[in-house]
Amino acid sequence: MDRVFSGIQPTGEVHIGNYLGAIKHWVELIDQYDCIYCIVDYHAMTVPYEPGEMSRRILDAALVNIACGLDPERCTLFVQSHVPEHTELTWIFNCVTPIGDLERMTQFKEKAKQHRKHVNAGLLDYPVLQAADILLYKAHYVPVGVDQVQHVELTREIARRFNQRFAPIFPEPQVLHSPTPKILGLDGQSKMSKSLNNYIGMLEPPDVIWEKLRTAVTDVQRVRRSDPGEPTRCNIYTIHQAFSPSEVLKEIESGCRSAGLGCVDCKRLLFEHMMKELDPIRQRAESLRRDDGPVRRALIRGAERCREIAREVMKEVRSSAGLLPLDAIS
Ligand code: TYM
Repeated sequence: MDRVFSGIQPTGEVHIGNYLGAIKHWVELIDQYDCIYCIVDYHAMTVPYEPGEMSRRILDAALVNIACGLDPERCTLFVQSHVPEHTELTWIFNCVTPIGDLERMTQFKEKAKQHRKHVNAGLLDYPVLQAADILLYKAHYVPVGVDQVQHVELTREIARRFNQRFAPIFPEPQVLHSPTPKILGLDGQSKMSKSLNNYIGMLEPPDVIWEKLRTAVTDVQRVRRSDPGEPTRCNIYTIHQAFSPSEVLKEIESGCRSAGLGCVDCKRLLFEHMMKELDPIRQRAESLRRDDGPVRRALIRGAERCREIAREVMKEVRSSAGLLPLDAIS
């Protein structure tokens, strides 16, 4: 069975961009592939954070993913720092990665601008750790949103460099996209993200979600209610595509283009269909919060399985790179 690997940072609230660009798709892939999903806590350390909150955020990220449908009986879910080989492989990959490749990464440039006073080496090295995450499990596919494509391309480059320099042991993994790989924020302009505070949280109360939707930017060229709109220019329509059935989408397309349907009514329809999907997720999350035993057990099992895989792959990596194994000395 081909293997899928992906990860999410425990940076606080999981938002509908994460869900529609990644998690919902991860759930769909579970039965087709050997899926390994990771809470990437080392990645989350590259920007300022509160140490006292981190362990709760890690558990909560796992909990929300399970509530979204990642059944830990049918896939592997684990925490990156529970498998130390991730950082070991990062070091080896650092030695085949030109610094210029890292300086060119869009995410690095954006984050370096956002956190001008905290541009640490980890922020620059972030994509190399991501490559190590993926290649440590020799994954074939990486389901991510559009914003992560450049990092997966670099991963392929790193695999190629390692294979040429040492031994051909790594596959070149490919990106998989969900039908909605890029969700814009409430401003309808920039990517939905926690750091820009333009997001809808998966578990926010319904009245808060409605208030955010009600004021979200739609097709900017539709100024008056009587102006015809264009759904393909509208972020609300993109989100509709992920939550609403096809007959509703058709109704919206014609209603919007003929100005028969106003933006607020369109948002009401979205809210209704969105809540049909989000309500059961919220209920599962609440019940897991009352008893998080299943979450903890999933992470223990996940770490055990991943450590085994990682141990074997690292033996192969060290040997290909010409290092001296301890058991070969005696
Ligand atoms: P993170 O936590 O920033 O994002 C997790 C996933 O959510 C997707 N995503 C979006 N998709 C569509 N629209 C949006 N507005 C949106 N915002 C976020 C991201 O593309 C991602 O798939 N660097 C990774 C974490 C990572 C990783 C890995 C991923 C670390 N190691 C190995 C894959 C394989 C990240 O962006 O996490």
